[in-house]
Amino acid sequence: MRVAVIGGSGHIGSFLLPRLVRAGHEVLNLSRGSSRPYTDDPAWAEVRPVRIDRPVEDAAGTFAAHVAELGPDAVVDLICFTPASAAALVEGLRGRTGQLLHCGSIWMHGPSTRVPLTEDDDRHPVGEYGVAKDAIARLLQEETASGGLATTSLHPGHISGPGWAPVTPLGNLDADVWERLASGREVLVPGLGTELLHHVHADDVAAAFELALAQPETAAGEVFHATAARALTVRGLLELAAGWFGQQAVLRHVDWPQFRAQTPAPFADQSWDHLWRSQYASPDKARRLLGYTPGEPDVAVREAVGWLRAHGTLQHLGPDTETRWLPER
Ligand SMILES: NC(=O)c1ccc[n+]([C@@H]2O[C@H](COP(=O)([O-])OP(=O)(O)OC[C@H]3O[C@@H](n4cnc5c(N)ncnc54)[C@H](OP(=O)(O)O)[C@@H]3O)[C@@H](O)[C@H]2O)c1
Repeated sequence: MRVAVIGGSGHIGSFLLPRLVRAGHEVLNLSRGSSRPYTDDPAWAEVRPVRIDRPVEDAAGTFAAHVAELGPDAVVDLICFTPASAAALVEGLRGRTGQLLHCGSIWMHGPSTRVPLTEDDDRHPVGEYGVAKDAIARLLQEETASGGLATTSLHPGHISGPGWAPVTPLGNLDADVWERLASGREVLVPGLGTELLHHVHADDVAAAFELALAQPETAAGEVFHATAARALTVRGLLELAAGWFGQQAVLRHVDWPQFRAQTPAPFADQSWDHLWRSQYASPDKARRLLGYTPGEPDVAVREAVGWLRAHGTLQHLGPDTETRWLPER
């Protein structure tokens, strides 16, 4: 079938589009054409690029019609961030395409109270991004429940993999923590380090989308988490990561004001956003209904750190203590 992927050359698309080509689909990548995929896969030669600027076309009211005119049997929307944009796309595709898959986020949930979070839990998202992802998921479910377009939303955790910096054990994007762990230096930890982080490999997210596309009747009207098999605590990931470099984590637990005082503000804010939510979103529904088989979160993070190291982004990491630095996937 013809599958149009909106935003297909980023973290998820880099793995998803080659998968779809190999599954025998005709694949269109709708993007501005400025980002290059992270994967160097011969399948990219078979992907048809379509130039499109989503916010510009949304503002002009032409986006949904542009997508529909491409005649896709299924649309995978990886870059939708407002209910208005989602509603316009649904309106334009209703009756013209078989399936719409949307990429959300586990931040459709707010700070966790009971873990693991399930898709059926009451959701109390916080912040503009999470509130919008929750609203989009509801809008799509209502569309399908009322007999309209067949839709599915899939909600990844912290997406990790080769090609970009992963969310660190401190819940931010400051690569300094990897250098500290590798050289046995002290790491400041806000609180006890028992908050939860829920990473997922980008290829596992891609696999979840591929499974939902392959099982349209099962997936229609559903909301799925697309997360790793388990979640990690802050302390757990710090200790595991130190071990990658043959070190033991040297941790100093401080309170949040002390952590903020010694951490650049954007990184401290990112830490707060992740650790305050402390989420573990169960992948069991996707396992049960779609046959999703997610990997372990530390494998995804390690692969990302390995990529940073191999590309010289991390300058001072000690030698790898194991030979299997980059696991085959
Ligand atoms: N990153 C995470 O940890 C995380 C976690 C949970 C959920 N998510 C969700 O994942 C989705 C993003 O997926 P991703 O991480 O794979 O994306 P990404 O790496 O940010 O890639 C963005 C893709 O969209 C295209 N794009 C960007 N701006 C565009 C525009 N104005 N018009 C058309 N195309 C545009 C890019 O290509 P061009 O630059 O060439 O246009 C690229 O193909 C979002 O829905 C986000 O909420 C992400």
